[in-house]
Amino acid sequence: MAIIQNIGENGKLDNLIFTEFIDSIICMQIITKTTEETTEFGKNLAAQLNGGDILLLEGELGAGKTTLVKGLAAGLNIKYEITSPTFTLMNTYPVDLEKIKNLVHIDTYRLKDEEELIEIGVEDYLGKPDTLCIVEWPEKIAKLLNDKKTTIVTIEHLENNQRKINKK
Ligand SMILES: Nc1ncnc2c1ncn2[C@@H]1O[C@H](COP(=O)(O)OP(=O)(O)OP(=O)(O)O)[C@@H](O)[C@H]1O
Ligand SMILES: [Mg+2]
Repeated sequence: MAIIQNIGENGKLDNLIFTEFIDSIICMQIITKTTEETTEFGKNLAAQLNGGDILLLEGELGAGKTTLVKGLAAGLNIKYEITSPTFTLMNTYPVDLEKIKNLVHIDTYRLKDEEELIEIGVEDYLGKPDTLCIVEWPEKIAKLLNDKKTTIVTIEHLENNQRKINKK
């Protein structure tokens, strides 16, 4: 089933429709027109995620992956500023929810090889029951992920700042 959901004129997602379908969502597609709309989408997506989940964010440079993570973090009530882990490779944030205690934000763009990420302890986090992991550029760590259950979100640049976001 695919649910197509558009953001209304006021830039807010229609939370009613969203929560109504929350248990049956398999595929979801949305087109956002601004940075704020993508952030809002991330914020809503947070409600669907649980500890142990691994969210893979696919999309070219500047697609809006980190923007989406900022929204997700807001949805998880994280008060820290989310910065891109392009150089640190992995940032961890405490989360104070029943179902999630840590958010791990990974960006493999500058990764030399998977070993580099293993050395900083990524395997302790991937799939850990109280931890939500989000990975930008997951293609580069395909081997580390291939025995894991993952959710894929793709972000595609359209014209005029629009982004097509798909959750599979
Ligand atoms: N509809 C939109 N959704 C998301 N970002 C948008 C949108 N319109 C414009 N932008 C801008 O595009 C940029 C997206 O940058 P962001 O760092 O989130 O991308 P990224 O996919 O994480 O890039 P990178 O691959 O470098 O990590 C931001 O400057 C954001 O303000
Ligand atoms: Mg990024």
